[in-house]
Amino acid sequence: MNIVLGVGGGIAAYKSAELVRLLIERGHGVQVVMTAGAQEFVRPLTFAALTGRKVVTSLFSTNSESTLSSAIEHIGVAQENDLLVVSPATADLLAKFANGLADDFLTTMYLAFTGPVVLAPAMNSNMWLHAATQSNLETLRRRGHRIVDPEEGQLACGMVGPGRLAAPEQIAMAVDAEIGRRRDLDGETVLITAGPTQEPLDPVRYISNRSSGKMGYALAEAAAARGAKVVLISGPVHLAPPRGCTFIAVHTAREMRDRVFENLQPASVIVKAAAVADFHLSKVPSQKMKKTAARLSLELDPTPDILAELGRKKGDRLLVGFAAETENLQQETRRKLEAKNCDMVVGNLVGGEGGAFESDQNEVLLALRSGEFIAVPRASKREVADRIFDEILKLRLHIYATNGR
Ligand code: CTP
Repeated sequence: MNIVLGVGGGIAAYKSAELVRLLIERGHGVQVVMTAGAQEFVRPLTFAALTGRKVVTSLFSTNSESTLSSAIEHIGVAQENDLLVVSPATADLLAKFANGLADDFLTTMYLAFTGPVVLAPAMNSNMWLHAATQSNLETLRRRGHRIVDPEEGQLACGMVGPGRLAAPEQIAMAVDAEIGRRRDLDGETVLITAGPTQEPLDPVRYISNRSSGKMGYALAEAAAARGAKVVLISGPVHLAPPRGCTFIAVHTAREMRDRVFENLQPASVIVKAAAVADFHLSKVPSQKMKKTAARLSLELDPTPDILAELGRKKGDRLLVGFAAETENLQQETRRKLEAKNCDMVVGNLVGGEGGAFESDQNEVLLALRSGEFIAVPRASKREVADRIFDEILKLRLHIYATNGR
């Protein structure tokens, strides 16, 4: 695998020499890119000697005979490499990556890079704990980057606290994990539903719910990043469809059901993250309802239960449902697993403080047919999405092993 190692300007820059050794030991080719700050701490020659390659030190190489080739070198480096690891990632680099600033080789190359990214931050504790840094980290996590959290300890500035660069061995292990996870859904089609549905009451009103679609979109992003062909069927939300997905927009439960079954055939995994309305008005008036009486009663009919129908027709496909609960999470998650013939149900608490709807974070309880429950602790929805796919793949290996399929 070809890896770009971005070295930022911090005292911990020297530790990246050890990281280079560990990556080369694992058989990777390593291209080092140093920021101007990094070169104040370590000389490029150290990395050139370790990697046997010229170290990239600036956006425009002054001694290049061809200005054009030096001007587009960052695109070449971005295209030729499979993974980007940045160590140490300074507060400045995190801010630039989070906001898309591109004023040197590393930050410009980052924008042109489409592969997985591992960031190992290191800085003073107050800088690490600052709201600006934490919000940049949140953005980068949501983008799917793996963050190797710094350790607590004595820092170069004399303070004791979080901010010390993780050990090179730990950063190398994060790179291993990212590579291992990378293409484990290659060649598969994953069908995902997301967001709420809207059930019209008249031409201007509808019944819906607070689902933001963020969990379903994070699942779509994660599956696509792991090599799957993703079909995302989504109710109305304020999110851009993830890159590379086949995107199908729907409004009602009925439309969602029809699109799901039209796209079922090639899918090997189905994840029903959508918060489908349970009731709708069967005969929607063609004109706006008028305020005629003090009270209004509406007679609603059940919508098709898409997950239950999938449970009957799924064949060999792995079916994952969601349970949005306000109480009795474990009990309800288990009940839905049985009732809808799912292989896994992802239970989450919704409503109230810290509820899953609208939030960028989530914590979930996975119920499996073995009777086992797996608690996934609070993390960004993108990280939770990856944990869900980790468990889906484990579960499938187990099913294959026991059924001999
Ligand atoms: N679901 C579905 N079709 C429906 C209702 C729900 O496919 N008409 C799916 C959701 O996408 C989710 C799962 O069923 O994966 C559970 O949704 P939830 O609203 O929690 O459960 P319900 O079955 O509606 O049960 P209840 O309202 O009793 O909690």
